[in-house]
Amino acid sequence: MAEDMNRKGPEHVAIILDGNGRWAKKRHLPRTAGHAAGSANVEKICRDAWDLGIKYLTLYAFSTENWKRPDSEVKALMSLLGRYLDDCMAKCNKNNMKVTIIGDRTGLSDNLQDQIRRLEEMSRDNTGLHLMIALNYGGRDDIRRAVVEIAEEVKKGALDPEEITEDTISERLDTAGVPDPDLMIRTSGEMRLSNYLIWQLSYSEFYFTDVLWPDFSKKDLAEAIDYYKNRDRRFGGVK
Ligand code: IPE
Ligand code: IPE
Ligand code: MG
Repeated sequence: MAEDMNRKGPEHVAIILDGNGRWAKKRHLPRTAGHAAGSANVEKICRDAWDLGIKYLTLYAFSTENWKRPDSEVKALMSLLGRYLDDCMAKCNKNNMKVTIIGDRTGLSDNLQDQIRRLEEMSRDNTGLHLMIALNYGGRDDIRRAVVEIAEEVKKGALDPEEITEDTISERLDTAGVPDPDLMIRTSGEMRLSNYLIWQLSYSEFYFTDVLWPDFSKKDLAEAIDYYKNRDRRFGGVK
């Protein structure tokens, strides 16, 4: 049995950072205080992830569905994101961290789009942790945008429909060039995907914990990695 196990740690971990609101509620604080605590935890977990041997970390920060929240909460989240991106610009080169954003950035403010452009540009050659932040991201929207691109190429005659492979699609997703996540973690006890990376997670191991995101620590991340190491990944085959 033991030789069937993974032993190797995950190269790419995707996290649904959930539970900021409940963290705040428990403390009789406004939901936005939970988001501030959650945002502070992101920087810490990036360091921990690199220490624990993770190469790619993808964090779900704002979904295409999160626009349904009250205006005041959306505003607070966007302003925290802006602050986080500023902070990242100040520190990414020192930390050798590469940062890219996935999701439909055209739906974000001009100011955020400008910050994203600058951050991606200044960190592009860094060789440490590759952090991907999912912002205005939806798995279905990711696929929809890829389909539009493919349809346009077919219309121009640049692509033959007969030649469309799974790679044709993968290469047009926001995560192009990055290996699929090995491990997906969701905090706060919810067991659903909420439209996260639905194509890319098709063979990932899933780990759920009741810990709320602002409390999620290096120890919790190490536990998730241990869980992963004990999984037997068969990818449909026989071992
Ligand atoms: C996750 O925390 C952060 C975002 C979705 C932006 P929530 O805000 O969803 O927290 P809960 O689920 O209400 O506790
Ligand atoms: C998923 O969390 C989105 C992010 C973490 C950004 P939600 O809290 O929005 O998901 P649901 O509404 O519980 O499915
Ligand atoms: Mg939630």
